[in-house]
Amino acid sequence: MPENSSPKRPKFAWEPPFIQPHRVGEINKFGRHRPREARVASVFGVDVELLKKNYGSPLFVTSEERLRANVRRIKKAFAVRWGNTCHGWSYKTNYISAVCNILHQEGSLAEVVSAFEYEKARALGVPGEMIIFNGPNKSRAILERAVAEGAQIHLDHLDELNLVEAVAAAQGRKARVALRLNFDTGYSEPWSRFGFNLESGQARQAAKLAAASPQLRLCGLHSHLGTFILEPRAYGEQVKIMCKFMREIESSEDVQIDVIDIGGGLPSMNALQSIYLPPEQVVPSINEYAEVICGTLIEETRYRSHTNRGLPKLVFESGRAVVDDAQVLITSVVGTKRLPDGRAAAVLDAGTNLLFTAYWYNHKVETTGEARGALADTVLFGPLCMNIDVVRHSVQLPPLRAGDSLVVSPVGAYNNSQWMQFIEYRPNVVLVHEDGEVSVIRAAEDLSVMMAQDRLPEHLATPFAPVRSAGCNHFEAAAETQAKTLRPFRICRG
Ligand SMILES: Cc1ncc(COP(=O)(O)O)c(C=O)c1O
Repeated sequence: MPENSSPKRPKFAWEPPFIQPHRVGEINKFGRHRPREARVASVFGVDVELLKKNYGSPLFVTSEERLRANVRRIKKAFAVRWGNTCHGWSYKTNYISAVCNILHQEGSLAEVVSAFEYEKARALGVPGEMIIFNGPNKSRAILERAVAEGAQIHLDHLDELNLVEAVAAAQGRKARVALRLNFDTGYSEPWSRFGFNLESGQARQAAKLAAASPQLRLCGLHSHLGTFILEPRAYGEQVKIMCKFMREIESSEDVQIDVIDIGGGLPSMNALQSIYLPPEQVVPSINEYAEVICGTLIEETRYRSHTNRGLPKLVFESGRAVVDDAQVLITSVVGTKRLPDGRAAAVLDAGTNLLFTAYWYNHKVETTGEARGALADTVLFGPLCMNIDVVRHSVQLPPLRAGDSLVVSPVGAYNNSQWMQFIEYRPNVVLVHEDGEVSVIRAAEDLSVMMAQDRLPEHLATPFAPVRSAGCNHFEAAAETQAKTLRPFRICRG
């Protein structure tokens, strides 16, 4: 056979040999640790490699079926225990339009915390009366719109109360408002920077002012305990405190509270870095939360049957518990290396630019290809030229190769909103529809998107503008050359 016709053999990457201490079967306080490789070929029923081929990598993949199922399950847990309940979709958790509209189709209100989020909800077609307007920074302009459109405005501080009053007076309307409260339940660190503090008497003062104002209709009480609250009893205490306050102000002021809004904070099945046990063992079920919340509400509002007041509507604003596990991130290995301490490492095409939550979760990482060798402690770096860009500091993975795909989950909460355009473009986000069809719900950025908001003053229209300063005489020559081709320009002598 002539030399040049011999069949080509596939080339495998050569990896230098290394010595690693054998750790499999190590004992920890729960027994022997036997890491198992987690491997998947498809996500939400669609082949990973096909998704990558069609939509590129990295890629966020969202499941319509999972999202609808999640919100229905959570709403049902409350509705079977307290008939009059409503979910407010927390826009900041994931404000991709398709995600918001799936939840609105399921009957969720829009819970927004800024002018941008308010405008987005309206642009999606949510009527003003179906918007809960939270947040500490509401400008006069956006309040004018919210009051005119009948949104429920949750007051954060006294200046805002006065501003809403003035806006409503100017429009000759009565604004629908709720008071955001903060207090100590004894179970979680109080978020005392939002709303009016109960223990100090501020909340009482605000209730008095709102109740007395001809421009405000105080219809609700709101509080948000915090996030990833693992103790259902925290919510029981929250409801108890809010109901006690409702009873107090209803007896001292001329108000009727129709809404008790307990905010969000229910955990998802993600693994917090600070918690040793896996989420399956530490995250209580939705029913456990609903049981405590609704049970307390039933107890604390029993007295109302002897009055002419109806029962309040229970609003909850869950974000992460609804959307987190409805989305995964597909990422590719760009290259591998061995760190000086012997650990395996891989550089991925997605990092903390896309996975902001990698700073506090140990996301699940699954491989997609054939089984390949023993698992080893591996560090997953992102693509950024920044030392803190680490997706996982330590995860047991088989040997990786450039081009391999990894699936990171759950990632649906707070990544599509807190991701940052830093160094890299943001990638496609796709939705797997209920019938299995796949479509892009947020297109990948490109240079035109990135430069769309830049404005170049005339004198900066070209990159090599002739600016002369001491020690930079070569600019003068460049300027003279440019003078022949580019106009207008000017030599600046410093
Ligand atoms: C007022 C309010 N409601 C709801 C949420 C959603 O919280 P989570 O995603 O923890 O359910 C937040 C998040 O911080 C919030 O500030």
